[in-house]
Amino acid sequence: MPGRWMPDSWRTKPIRQAPAYPDAAKVAAVEQKLRSFPPLVFAGEARKLKAALGKVANGEAILVQGGDCAESFAEFHPDTIRDTFRVLLQMAVVMTFGAALPVVKVGRIAGQFAKPRSDEVEVRGDVSLPSYRGDIVNGIDFTPEARIPDPDRWLTAYSQSAATLNLIRAFAQGGYADLHRVHRWTLGFVDRSPAGDRYRALADRIGECLAFMEACGLTSELPQIRETDFYTSHEALLLGFEESMTRIDSTSGDWYDTSAHMLWIGDRTRQLDGAHVEFLRGVRNPIGLKCGPSLEADDLLRLIDRLNPQNEAGRLTLIARMGADKIANGLPPLVRAVEREGRRVVWTSDPMHGNTVKTASGFKTRPFDRILSEVRQFFDIHRAEGTWAGGVHLELTGTDVTECLGGAQAIDDATLQNRYHTHCDPRLNGAQAIELAFLVAEELKQSRTNPRLAEAV
Ligand code: PEP
Ligand code: CO
Repeated sequence: MPGRWMPDSWRTKPIRQAPAYPDAAKVAAVEQKLRSFPPLVFAGEARKLKAALGKVANGEAILVQGGDCAESFAEFHPDTIRDTFRVLLQMAVVMTFGAALPVVKVGRIAGQFAKPRSDEVEVRGDVSLPSYRGDIVNGIDFTPEARIPDPDRWLTAYSQSAATLNLIRAFAQGGYADLHRVHRWTLGFVDRSPAGDRYRALADRIGECLAFMEACGLTSELPQIRETDFYTSHEALLLGFEESMTRIDSTSGDWYDTSAHMLWIGDRTRQLDGAHVEFLRGVRNPIGLKCGPSLEADDLLRLIDRLNPQNEAGRLTLIARMGADKIANGLPPLVRAVEREGRRVVWTSDPMHGNTVKTASGFKTRPFDRILSEVRQFFDIHRAEGTWAGGVHLELTGTDVTECLGGAQAIDDATLQNRYHTHCDPRLNGAQAIELAFLVAEELKQSRTNPRLAEAV
């Protein structure tokens, strides 16, 4: 049985993926400083997101979550933030139309800095150095100095997150997110895409709907047209940082991690009695749990009971990241166990992390057709089980990078090197992400017309 929870009770548990800081006193001083900083998000916003995710759990809404694998200090720029925000909004409009349901928008942004690594060390030639763990921990340069974990980086991450969130709030509330504007960007995408004809019919129907709504008086003067709700999320990996951002909410008296609206536990740190599960069980934010191919149904049920003992819809999002070749065997037993035991969760598909391959030229990449195959299988499995496929979790950027193979632009092995900029995993570029949204919209439309599901939810 878990004992009494406190923001620091994780410190008594076994921990994985923790950086080895050479100066414990310096870490403690930075933690102390962060504890006095303003929260990045307000607990009431996290509650609002939880309620919205509760609707996803009930089959009444869709979740689109996405952004960088790892944000970086060097690439911190308003255009990058704007482009990622814009792509997520475009995806959301297309998916809202496909599903005829609200779409909950959550960025992997304004705090997604810490990375779990498969190997402790990186070896190049005969030099071996500690792995890069994200800009909040150490530097990406392959030098001994850069790779030393430095807690001063937490302060840079905090201020970059605050500035990013400030811009996002301005975009979301200031008129930039107007539905008409978002749709105009999408029309631009359809015109430019080599596969544009395939998406034009759907885009035209959205345009007609907007024109109809406008004629009925639903104009940009209304907040529903002009503004949007946009939430932030990241992996709660660096627990000293997360603990320092955790505060009691004066309205409810509950603990919230105020570094983001939603936090998730990675596939490498989801041990039932480990530090990461311990920390997240006690904060009241909505949380996510990555579910990889090694997760057994019994273990999942134990994790659900630990993380969501009150079986609250919207509290827990299960993010399946099996791989296109493993999802057919890996996901159905989990979905069935959750269903059989009556656990209320959001199911979403991360088709990125199980589909990473290395090319002959040494690039870490993800083939678009494998990403698509995993998403399609995810929808098929839920359709067959009569459960709700709640959405997608993607690594993407609005910038025109060449990191994932394929898509309508047909990025191949030779083009990958042109604009391969990621600090960690390969991301979908803007065009690939919107293309995926159109394909998901087609799936959503089918789910909507599935009589079995209509009975089940
Ligand atoms: C991630 O989302 O960037 C990640 C590392 O995922 P996972 O824990 O599923 O491997
Ligand atoms: Co990643």
